[in-house]
Amino acid sequence: MEIALIPDGEPAGADSVRPGSGTDYKRRLDIPSSLYSEVALYIVPRARKKEETVAQDVEVAEEPVAVVERGADADVEELEGIGRVTGQKLKERGYYTVRDLAFASVKEIADIIGNEERAAQIIEAARSMLGLSNFISALEVYRRRVNIKRISTGVRSLDELLNGGVETSAVTEVAGEFGAGKTQFCHQLAVMVQLPEDKGGLSAKAIYIDTENTFRPERIAQIARARGLDPDQALKNIYYARAYSSDHQMILAEQARRIIKQDNVKLLVVDSIVAHFRAEFPGRENLAERQQKLNKHIADLLKIADAYDVAVVVTNQVMAQPDVFFGNPLKPAGGNVLAHGATYRIWLRKSKENIRIAKIFDSPYHPEREATFKITEEGLTD
Ligand code: GTP
Ligand code: MG
Repeated sequence: MEIALIPDGEPAGADSVRPGSGTDYKRRLDIPSSLYSEVALYIVPRARKKEETVAQDVEVAEEPVAVVERGADADVEELEGIGRVTGQKLKERGYYTVRDLAFASVKEIADIIGNEERAAQIIEAARSMLGLSNFISALEVYRRRVNIKRISTGVRSLDELLNGGVETSAVTEVAGEFGAGKTQFCHQLAVMVQLPEDKGGLSAKAIYIDTENTFRPERIAQIARARGLDPDQALKNIYYARAYSSDHQMILAEQARRIIKQDNVKLLVVDSIVAHFRAEFPGRENLAERQQKLNKHIADLLKIADAYDVAVVVTNQVMAQPDVFFGNPLKPAGGNVLAHGATYRIWLRKSKENIRIAKIFDSPYHPEREATFKITEEGLTD
């Protein structure tokens, strides 16, 4: 498996990514925002014994250790009903913690342990150990959204369009024709995520899955330099892998999940998400199989985004629709699977020379505005 440029444990100057200097603590605190309500429930008995209205208090994350002990990061074997043998089988397939099981599908687990009913029970047990229930209050939904972080694009107009930047815990699709700037956008984000929060980043690393062999380390170095980062250090903070087929791409997504669990990664790029799928499953006769596989891949990415509070950014080609006579004859490839899978969709198109125009489409709450930016030596700029 090709994974180059693996950070070697000597990350960029920022303290928050250096193991042992507050990182461990932060990493243990790395609980997906979707579990924050449970965090409250778990921590409360120790942190605020005497208060009765604890479940309504979001700011209880003062003593996170209790959560780690009892909740998300507990070993799968600590779940009732999972013995050593089953535990080992699950771990071999990448399910190490209760959190991994809570976000798994019955089918995935049934494939491993060979029994659908038991798989459902295990997932249910994991979810109940984390205090997850199917219904939550709208206030809780709001609290979760408040906790979402953003990675600045480094371009004011684009940030405004995105309400501050690319969101963690979400999948953002960047679509556009050839040369529209999708790959440049991904390069830029892989640098931006490394900046400290006051400069728009998250002091974190990136994973870059490249399916078209268009990743350029020298471009990363250029953009890093323009943002005041040491180019070598910026490159070290990016895990890179080239995907050679759709199957390989899916395996890499799984490996990415393991890296994210162990390291401070807040951005996962897949550039491009559909190229291999389109090439390997051409024509209408293969459409169903292609969409099924793509659906699984996107579901995996959504789970990673949700479980680990990571911003997932995927690029997508646009294709001509010969039967469209009114409006835009181009549409993103990948069909409905991607349309429903991606939380946000950005459409890039070319204007004069190095000018590009971005637009949000299909967003639950972004207005359909446009933003203009440039592609220059320094990366994307206003
Ligand atoms: P496809 O992957 O082919 O679909 O296109 P894309 O949307 O990924 O396009 P990409 O991000 O590769 O954008 C290519 C554009 O960025 C080109 O038009 C180049 O002019 C511009 N570009 C790429 N690298 C540089 C650079 O180092 N300096 C400048 N000034 N422009 C660059
Ligand atoms: Mg590209």
